Amino acid sequence: MHVHKYERWWLTFGVAMLIVFLGVIVFAAIADNINPPTGMTQIDPTKVAQTPPFDKPGLRKLPDGSYEAYYVAQVFSFAPASVTIPIGSKVTFFVTSPDVVHGFFIPDTDINMMAVPGWVNTDSHTFTRAGEYLLICHEYCGIGHQNMFAKIEVR
Ligand code: CUA
Repeated sequence: MHVHKYERWWLTFGVAMLIVFLGVIVFAAIADNINPPTGMTQIDPTKVAQTPPFDKPGLRKLPDGSYEAYYVAQVFSFAPASVTIPIGSKVTFFVTSPDVVHGFFIPDTDINMMAVPGWVNTDSHTFTRAGEYLLICHEYCGIGHQNMFAKIEVR
């Protein structure tokens, strides 16, 4: 089979670009520690309301001054609906769902997760700017999806 010279250049360029893109992804994952949220913790989705700490969703202060926030996402609300966090705090979010897949997205931060029945997802963020943040569901989850949000007050 004869491959034209220009065709060969173009194929080489395409393959080289794929290798460059793959390299960028691997570099970002390792050097910048950019990874998908990987809270590989399982939970019985039928017993979320009885399983600590999700039986009492909310904010917990840790001895080092950081916070853990436990959220239950369900049709069509988040628990807790509102939390207040001191400015500068690092918050680690834990989220699960007892019913269907929901989104867990806080605009203006890097928090962007899914709440998946049977799994606990986790990610953390340091809130350096005061103000009211919105936590929204960005996975279509049913007829009340657009009303599914919570508030995070930073001050
Ligand atoms: Cu929950 Cu959309």
